Amino acid sequence: MQDILIVYDSKTGNTEKVAKALAEAAGERCVLAQVDAAPAADDFAVVVAGYWVDKGAPNAKMKKYLENLHGKKVVLFQTLGADPASDHAVSSLVNAGVLMNKDCKVLGTLSIRGAIDPALIAMMRKMPAGSPHSPSPESEARWAAAASHPDVEDLAKAKSFMQGFLAMYDKFLKMM
Ligand SMILES: Cc1cc2nc3c(=O)[nH]c(=O)nc-3n(C[C@H](O)[C@H](O)[C@H](O)COP(=O)(O)O)c2cc1C
Repeated sequence: MQDILIVYDSKTGNTEKVAKALAEAAGERCVLAQVDAAPAADDFAVVVAGYWVDKGAPNAKMKKYLENLHGKKVVLFQTLGADPASDHAVSSLVNAGVLMNKDCKVLGTLSIRGAIDPALIAMMRKMPAGSPHSPSPESEARWAAAASHPDVEDLAKAKSFMQGFLAMYDKFLKMM
């Protein structure tokens, strides 16, 4: 059995950047794959699964992937437009966790901010007042704050997350 499979889906490239940073930190211990080309999860001890947040949950392809995992140790990572420390980020991770079968164990989670697709922002700017996504000073500030992410610091954070995870995995989590 190989060590770590990093599997992800990415529409505009943010999640892919984070996946690549994680893979760089894991080096030869990991295989990196886009979800459509992923090798069998059962050949790996740990699956590190990354998605972009779509309406507060994993994007559809990764949702399906997570639902089909059985008996795996899993690390979840997500990119999202909102603040990674927000309740929304936490609930999005929870929404990923509850999709999985009970025989899977979540060993770690990572949230990283990601720029929102300008096409989506343009669409939201046209939404009528009163709709949950209609533009407001707060939403404009949120979209602007996300625009430069993931940045160099985010990718460094992803790398150090993976280094920390591997150290914990080798010491304790492997035995779980
Ligand atoms: C259709 C759609 C729905 C989204 N829903 C959310 C959301 O509910 N919460 C959030 O914080 N970001 C949301 N986003 C922003 C993305 O999660 C974010 O930009 C992410 O980093 C995109 O990753 P990618 O570049 O790998 O596709 C949404 C983006 C799109 C296109």
